[in-house]
Amino acid sequence: MSEFTLHGARIVVRAGALADAAALVHECAPARRPVVIADDNVAPLHASPIAAALGAELLTFPAGEASKTRQQWAALTDVLLERQLGRDTVLVAVGGGVCGDLVGFVAATYLRGVPVVQVPTSLVAMIDAAIGGKTGVDTRHGKNLVGAFHQPSLVLVDPLALRTLPAEHRRAGMAEAIKHGVIADEAYFHWIAAHGAALLARELSADVAHRLVLDSIAVKAGVVARDEREGGRRKILNFGHTIGHAVEHLSEYSLLHGEAIAIGMVAEAQLGELAGFTLPGLADDIRELCVALGLPVSIDRAFDAGTILALTRGDKKARDGAAEYALPMRLGEMNDADGRFAMAMDESFVRATIERCR
Ligand code: GLY
Repeated sequence: MSEFTLHGARIVVRAGALADAAALVHECAPARRPVVIADDNVAPLHASPIAAALGAELLTFPAGEASKTRQQWAALTDVLLERQLGRDTVLVAVGGGVCGDLVGFVAATYLRGVPVVQVPTSLVAMIDAAIGGKTGVDTRHGKNLVGAFHQPSLVLVDPLALRTLPAEHRRAGMAEAIKHGVIADEAYFHWIAAHGAALLARELSADVAHRLVLDSIAVKAGVVARDEREGGRRKILNFGHTIGHAVEHLSEYSLLHGEAIAIGMVAEAQLGELAGFTLPGLADDIRELCVALGLPVSIDRAFDAGTILALTRGDKKARDGAAEYALPMRLGEMNDADGRFAMAMDESFVRATIERCR
């Protein structure tokens, strides 16, 4: 077992932890009326047993990024209001990043904030979305544009849940793990490269699953511990996400988040090389590892460069209408950009990079 504490959130990583979820929720977020919320794929698999053990109502919503909206936020909030739930409730989000972000945002706003427990069951959610307190929904203008910081009382991570995760979702989640290696942990990057087959194996070993999740969470928690509200350092976690979010949006979410981030990381490392900030060859190293893990690395020719640029300007990371990029210097080290950790780039460089990454 391994534990972290992050801005009041207790993070527990333990094989088999899902079976103890009710006891840990009682311990970390005691509440008279807990409510478990999951999408309709995860509900029968993981959420229903947790709800039964807690004696809690289980609410569900349709699976998929299309549910991460203000409409779904309102629908869930209305159910809580109809049930007349007070501040003596805790919302338990069981599922992937969409569930955690959506339920976290409901919890952040319901009665001006009630406790939330995150039980991430996808790789992206375990190592990224559930850690650090970001919550929110998408709008037609882009991803995560409406939301709030709301730290969970407990994040309960059971690496063995990765065994039942559809293969394409485990593969996509590997992009965020690669990101953590690039931004802060060169040894972890090489460990992923050396264990590609084991990481994608249907019978994922408990040891490999534990190291994958633990080392990634350690990177993310280490960054968020120093900068909870993304005033500076936390921006390094956005590596790959400026171009990544734009292509994810343009694909109408047919690209999984991690797949879009793989494309975004290769492109942004290439951008860093073109601008002279990034050690030449890093984009190739990232591309090679992504390809080895079966992740996409090219920007679809159908995605017009001008439209990608326009989307990056509307990204929540943009300043004064200019997109900002967190760029690596070399494996394991990001450019601190004089303490800002992200910088605007000449759009002619970005356009050239996009064309180079087709
Ligand atoms: N996913 C980036 C962050 O949590 O800051």
